[in-house]
Amino acid sequence: MSRYFGEALKLLEKRRKDAVKKSEKAYADAVSSDPLLCEIDRQIQENSKKLIEYFGRPDEKFSAINQNIDALRDELYSRMVKLGIDTDAFSPRYYCENCNDTGFIKGKKCKCLLMLEKELALKRLGNTLPIEKCDFENFDTSLYPEECREHMTDIFGFCRAYAYSLHKKSSSILMTGNTGLGKTHLSLSIVKTAIEKGLSAAYGSAQNFLSKIENEHFSRGDERTDTLDTLLDADLLVLDDLGTEFSSAFVNSTIYCIINTRLLAQNPTIISTNLGLEELKSRYGDRILSRIMGNYDILKFDGRDIRVLKRIEEFNC
Ligand SMILES: Nc1ncnc2c1ncn2[C@@H]1O[C@H](COP(=O)(O)OP(=O)(O)OP(=O)(O)O)[C@@H](O)[C@H]1O
Ligand SMILES: [Mg+2]
Ligand SMILES: [Zn+2]
Repeated sequence: MSRYFGEALKLLEKRRKDAVKKSEKAYADAVSSDPLLCEIDRQIQENSKKLIEYFGRPDEKFSAINQNIDALRDELYSRMVKLGIDTDAFSPRYYCENCNDTGFIKGKKCKCLLMLEKELALKRLGNTLPIEKCDFENFDTSLYPEECREHMTDIFGFCRAYAYSLHKKSSSILMTGNTGLGKTHLSLSIVKTAIEKGLSAAYGSAQNFLSKIENEHFSRGDERTDTLDTLLDADLLVLDDLGTEFSSAFVNSTIYCIINTRLLAQNPTIISTNLGLEELKSRYGDRILSRIMGNYDILKFDGRDIRVLKRIEEFNC
């Protein structure tokens, strides 16, 4: 069972209570807007109290009170309709219509509960990259030197089309190239589109993720760790700056596990790195490289460091 189960259930309970509260308020507001409605509602309440007194004694009196309540309710609603009051608002509007925010359908977890558990896990991961600053709209291809502008415009077009058609079984991408060429910018633009589509996305630096996984692994000795599970489960995973993490056999086998598991499940992964293909091969070995080469779209970024270009522009202004 997910360790976020309890927390997710609490959130669902809050959704449920909020929906009920809202519907009760709509009813109370409607009733108090008209003196006659107020009076009919008072009579309904009175009869309901009587009904409780007679509960368990199903005699004539009980059914008479029941009928009385039904008649009063009919009267109340028909007057409301005449007054143009939206009586639909008296039924709770649940966030999830499939399970009425209970989290279960026939004893099975509803999609909304699974989604909440995933969101909580991702939140705990602490996605630390500057996603707010990166989108397709502020990606400027004129910043690339003329000799590679067309190539970089193609990469930009590819990433934008990829993002807009992104789904849970999309292909994976390797972005390789020197520092400051827009790899993180474009991967985060894709993440933003993914989130807007309602897909779950885990994004962060390889270094950050791997040190978390390592800490969790060695402190508890579990084979699987929370962070690893979250990275494997996310609809989209962005592993930024692969190659900057501390190298070890554990790290390499974890990277292999992430790449391989997600490929088998056909879930999209985006890896960005300053390493070239030869360097990746010598650092991570044939097993990892052949999976990337055989299955990922490889985008080679080119140009001059845009971080430096932007700094120069700032100083010249
Ligand atoms: N084409 C672009 N248009 C506008 N801003 C850009 C473009 N490319 C990069 N930038 C900006 O330049 C800075 C560096 O880009 P980014 O972080 O994406 O580079 P990177 O390729 O990931 O570099 P590194 O390999 O060092 O991680 C960021 O602030 C980013 O928003
Ligand atoms: Mg980067
Ligand atoms: Zn549901």
